[in-house]
Amino acid sequence: MGVMQPKGTPRETVLEELAGFTGGDVNWRTGRVLTGVYDPGEEAHALAVEAYTRFLAQNALYVNMYPSIGRLERDVVASVAGLLRADDEVTGNITSGGTESIIMAVKTARDWARENRPHITGPELVLPVTAHPAFLKAAHYCGLRVVQTPVELKSFRADIRAFREALGPNTILAAGSAPNFSHGTIDPIAEMAAAAREKGILFHVDGCVGGIYLSILRRMGEKVRDFDFSVPGVTSISADLHKYGYTPKNASVILYRNRDLRKHAWFVCTSTTGYAVINPTAQSSRTGGPIAAAWAVLRFFGEEGFREIMRRSQEATRRMLAGISGIEGIRVLGEPDMCMFTIAADELNVFEIDDEMRLRGWQMIPQFACGGGPANLHVSVSHANVPHTQLFLQDLRETVETLRQRGPGVDRAAFSRIVGQVAGKPIEEIMLALIPLAGLSGIDLPERMAPLNTALDLLPAGRRDELLTAFFNMTT
Ligand SMILES: Cc1ncc(COP(=O)(O)O)c(C=O)c1O
Repeated sequence: MGVMQPKGTPRETVLEELAGFTGGDVNWRTGRVLTGVYDPGEEAHALAVEAYTRFLAQNALYVNMYPSIGRLERDVVASVAGLLRADDEVTGNITSGGTESIIMAVKTARDWARENRPHITGPELVLPVTAHPAFLKAAHYCGLRVVQTPVELKSFRADIRAFREALGPNTILAAGSAPNFSHGTIDPIAEMAAAAREKGILFHVDGCVGGIYLSILRRMGEKVRDFDFSVPGVTSISADLHKYGYTPKNASVILYRNRDLRKHAWFVCTSTTGYAVINPTAQSSRTGGPIAAAWAVLRFFGEEGFREIMRRSQEATRRMLAGISGIEGIRVLGEPDMCMFTIAADELNVFEIDDEMRLRGWQMIPQFACGGGPANLHVSVSHANVPHTQLFLQDLRETVETLRQRGPGVDRAAFSRIVGQVAGKPIEEIMLALIPLAGLSGIDLPERMAPLNTALDLLPAGRRDELLTAFFNMTT
């Protein structure tokens, strides 16, 4: 049954139906969702909803019709630029999220290089393996070759020597993260940007998750590695509002060192029968809602409000890290620089830990082994998790203890043999081999994901991507 029926449906029924659909959803208000939700608290949330709906119908494409949206965007961009120690030359725009900001950075660099490095016909993007997949997506869309460089496995920061060596005659853009999402570690941005600058290469800092958070921490007097426009050689920065800026989705800021660079961001077209399209970002028509809501939340908290949120989140993170270090059988990877970290296990299967914790209501993100690092569970601590840290540690301790006593539920060695036999075969064969291993029946994912995640973890990344594409293309 589709949505479009011959006759309309009363408002109350529609709302009831919508509410009915959410029965199987994760409840993001429990404080147990440890990723992807940035709940600013009831009052700020209500304000954001009101601001959002007030500007919901206004099309931000037409800033001439709605100058208020242009004004709100300029205010928000200026606030974020100020946090990132920008000078008056820095300029930028609001996008729909980190991915769009990164796509804009890559597209801008590509078009800058077309003008300034016209001899380069096979442009390359160099970045550590910890950089977000959005870069690989952007490179895919913009026709750049990606060169991923290793990280030091003790710290999970970019290996600066390998990074420097990877900067070649075709590199048009290099990037580092502050911090990366996966491990919460800040790359040696100053050294990386200097290396890029020496070779005349643009350098983007992915501050999507950390730009706002780390800047506030620095202003609170905490020691934070330099990553912003104070660093020579940094030519663009992305910083999301809809993460640790605690504003509703979709809002991020892309900033460029100056207008000379930003001029390559624009897409302007008056050569059709239609209206003049003048876009500084990838989207064209878009709601003014996220921009107004971002403005409202920043205004509501002010720096003082954010300082309190960051202070509490840092304290909670320290408590969690200390607690985890006391649980035998698991460990934190690298040296996290803010309220994000990953949990790995040497003997236990982290995906089994994830399943047990999920049954207790905790949502973490499983991440596959990559770049020499093991599979792990990602945690992003937000304001809403702060009151629940003791319970988290207690559940984690009990879960690890139970699994240690029970022994492995997934026979990794047997899985490894089966996956090894099919890894080079056509995708259909891999799928057929994995269905019984993973306990898949039909299109619904199983309650316990450890078998499936273990099998996926054992596949080479390229095959895994192909398999997931085929699976989701078939089932959604
Ligand atoms: C460091 C970093 N960069 C980019 C992104 C992509 O952001 P979005 O999901 O808003 O597109 C994320 C998302 O978590 C991130 O953490």
